[in-house]
Amino acid sequence: MSDSKPIEALNALEAEALAAAESAPDAEALEAVRVTYLGRSEGRISVILRGLGQLPAEDRPAVGQRANQVKAALAAVLEARAGALSGPAVESGLDLTMPGRPRWQGGLHPITQAIDEIWHIFRDLGFARARGPEADTEWYNFEALNTPLDHPAADEQDTLYLVDSVLLRSHTSPVQMRTMEANEPPIRIIAPGWVYRRDTYDATHTPAFMQIEGLVIDEDITFIDFKATLAEFARRYWGPDTQIRFRPSFFPFTEPSAEVDVKRVIRRPDGTQYETDWLEIMGSGMVDPNVIANAGYDPERYTGWAFGMGPGRIAMLKHGVDDLRTFFENDVRFLGQFAQ
Ligand code: DAH
Repeated sequence: MSDSKPIEALNALEAEALAAAESAPDAEALEAVRVTYLGRSEGRISVILRGLGQLPAEDRPAVGQRANQVKAALAAVLEARAGALSGPAVESGLDLTMPGRPRWQGGLHPITQAIDEIWHIFRDLGFARARGPEADTEWYNFEALNTPLDHPAADEQDTLYLVDSVLLRSHTSPVQMRTMEANEPPIRIIAPGWVYRRDTYDATHTPAFMQIEGLVIDEDITFIDFKATLAEFARRYWGPDTQIRFRPSFFPFTEPSAEVDVKRVIRRPDGTQYETDWLEIMGSGMVDPNVIANAGYDPERYTGWAFGMGPGRIAMLKHGVDDLRTFFENDVRFLGQFAQ
């Protein structure tokens, strides 16, 4: 009859070894468990395997097989535990529950947001986006737009000249002429971009600022088209109760010319509401026939309207900001408030 004692001893040894390996708190303790049970010379399982020869011959196969099972089981647990403990963070004693540092997240500049929103509304109304150079010639900036060079706007007092007749564009209106030259009617474009003026730097003026130009040219375009498109834009941008009004004005490149004002309805959180004052949002008008002719189109056949608006001013109104300069000083504590 074979002796069952060595098998029982191996069962107990296995339970003890596996428990020790599973609860080893760190890599060092785990290595100690390995040496205790599997160490080549003194390891308790190694000793048993080496001593098989002293057992009665009939017991050797069963004890040998069981000892090898225990060895394999322990090796597997040692490996699994080593994997679980092997984070460098744990080894170097870092606290894994420590909250992470928040990542810096960028956002769009409030004026860029205004431009995007305005552009998207016009895009939905069938407009394309256009652009032109920021350094342009006197021809495109003034003369093509029916503005003689002795006009005050063309004076060096107001305009930043680069060389001779090349200047930093003082408005986005030169994009009108460049777009008309490169395309055939019908034209419906929105052209946002930087413009430059020799202005004093104060709460409502910066020497570089953004404008958005709009231009429509086609057959049978009348002031009614302009009024309807603008009213639709204003309702989509500021809400369905927004009203618009036109005030007669003058620009060399439009006839007649108008300034557009909006009056908004602001709803308070408590449900009451109030109307704002009239706020000027743009200069505009019917494109002067001279401008249409300068583009090489027949002014008898084509008519159109145009506008130029200031998204910086619109962003100021929207966010209740009273100093335009804050938009350009790039203090992230200020700009971060508008990040989307
Ligand atoms: N270019 C004008 C400015 O900078 C704004 C403007 C007025 C643009 C009337 C237009 C327009 O297209 O029709 O003050």
